[in-house]
Amino acid sequence: MKVKVRGFEMAYEDTGSASTSLSTPPLLLIHGFPLDRTLWAMQVRGLADVARVIAPDLRGFGESGMPRTTSPTVPSPDRNESTTGEGMRPAGAVTMDTYADDLRGLLDALGVKSAVVAGLSMGGYIAFAFYRKNAARVRGLILADTKAGPDSPEGKKGRDDNILLARAQGAGAVGDKMLPKMLTPKTAAERAGIANAARAMMARQPVAGVVAALEAMRDRADSTPTLAEIKAPTLVVTGAEDALIPPKEAEAMRDAIRGARLVSIPGAAHLANLDQPDAFNAAVREFLKTVA
Ligand code: MLT
Repeated sequence: MKVKVRGFEMAYEDTGSASTSLSTPPLLLIHGFPLDRTLWAMQVRGLADVARVIAPDLRGFGESGMPRTTSPTVPSPDRNESTTGEGMRPAGAVTMDTYADDLRGLLDALGVKSAVVAGLSMGGYIAFAFYRKNAARVRGLILADTKAGPDSPEGKKGRDDNILLARAQGAGAVGDKMLPKMLTPKTAAERAGIANAARAMMARQPVAGVVAALEAMRDRADSTPTLAEIKAPTLVVTGAEDALIPPKEAEAMRDAIRGARLVSIPGAAHLANLDQPDAFNAAVREFLKTVA
């Protein structure tokens, strides 16, 4: 399905009707980078009996477009390196706030007043931005394989390298660099279906969307101060073998968010929901019972 949101066509899954569950809030699933809504296929299918599940493609990913005015900027040595970054981006640049505003637009278009907001990795960075702007619409937060802190100087340099790589060789080259940290070595070796699906998902993303997201992640605000302000019930999930965002980041978020619960999923790396969908879905089901 597609709906026009803030100047572009946003593609999304919506498994349900409001009658799926009258007491459980809808679940909004925000994918990571450089991925699309098919990341959540096993959640869209596996959780539809307990909640309305909405899974969009972020702008520039999957089947979603980008507004014509959004033109990714060329990394330049003199770009502003402010600590928050997001307020200092060139006009038209995509930020975590941009994605958050798109998602608010989607919820408005679907008539959803409030939701449990779940984000994996970059999706988590966006969930923080969404919470800062729309706390009253967040019935619960699920922060999966993500972290609150901003990019380090080396991390920013890595984003610039990946921007150049994506422009020169396409999104697949960035994906191939990331893949070894996305899945456990065991999954990569023994479950070719999952590894191939992840590789194909990354390879098919449009370069413009990938570059815009790399810039947005590079310059994103520090969400650490947000943690103490979160009042929504929160579930933190981590793959026990996540090498891209290590489990200690999940522990830090659990410790800083009042009442947050942490579930560590054995046998999973960064894409915990893809690698171990049953365990991931079980954790979400338990959490949804507490916010119903
Ligand atoms: C993601 O999975 O969304 C990205 O790996 C996050 C990041 O690179 O910071």
